[in-house]
Amino acid sequence: MKVVILEDAEAVAKYGAAIFVKQIQKKPSSVLGLATGSTPVALYNELIKKYQSNQLSFSQVKSFNLDEYLGISGDHPQSYRHFMNEKLFKHIDINKKNTAVPSGDAKHPLDACEEYEQMIKNSGGIDVQLLGIGRNGHIGFNEPSSSLGSRTRVKTLTQETIDDNARFFAENESQPHLSITMGIGTILEAKQVVLLATGENKAQAIVDTVQGYITAQCPASALQFHANAVIIIDEAAASLLKNREFFRHIERENQKLEKSLGL
Ligand code: F6R
Repeated sequence: MKVVILEDAEAVAKYGAAIFVKQIQKKPSSVLGLATGSTPVALYNELIKKYQSNQLSFSQVKSFNLDEYLGISGDHPQSYRHFMNEKLFKHIDINKKNTAVPSGDAKHPLDACEEYEQMIKNSGGIDVQLLGIGRNGHIGFNEPSSSLGSRTRVKTLTQETIDDNARFFAENESQPHLSITMGIGTILEAKQVVLLATGENKAQAIVDTVQGYITAQCPASALQFHANAVIIIDEAAASLLKNREFFRHIERENQKLEKSLGL
């Protein structure tokens, strides 16, 4: 697990975006795994800037989002489909037909979950998966106690997640309590995983992920099994980690190595 500690949220977004830029430049038909929430928005803005300055094209890119609320359709303003259209897709040259978000209004949600897995397989698998992390260590909507081998399925949200996401809903608007989410097993199959976290309220989840036991109680700790996972965090989110200086040292050495290899 590579841990990159940076000064602030802006640096986190830029570092994360650079990984996606490199990936798309190397393979224009990359398959991206995308996330919603507040954390990835700054990274999406960086990607939009790259597109607008003609440095990047998404015309051959395919994407799969991690999750969606169950019980609302894609045109609902709080749906993750709507979020992605507004925050990223409408600003770049991606073909909307190549963007997949689980269907929150599927008539047969269980079949929709299986179909989503099949679509990911048919695309050749996800090249880079972007993740945020919940305060309780969730990735996607895989809440604590999710099986570490789980696949795309219907999940019940914890009260903590419902409360955390209440900020996106109007006061008397009904808020879904169920979701469709890629499983932890699905996420672990991505060739590379990039997890972003900023702010002090993520510090406990980050220390549990990086230096805690691998346990379903902290779903993100399963990333310790992944051979190519990068955890990009700001100082505040890193504040509970032990050996922070060692992580900084490793990163400086990696940068030197990459430079000398022309990567
Ligand atoms: C979103 C998702 C969630 C969020 C997490 C953090 O698609 O899967 O796991 O990444 O809840 O959300 P923010 O970034 O709003 O703190």
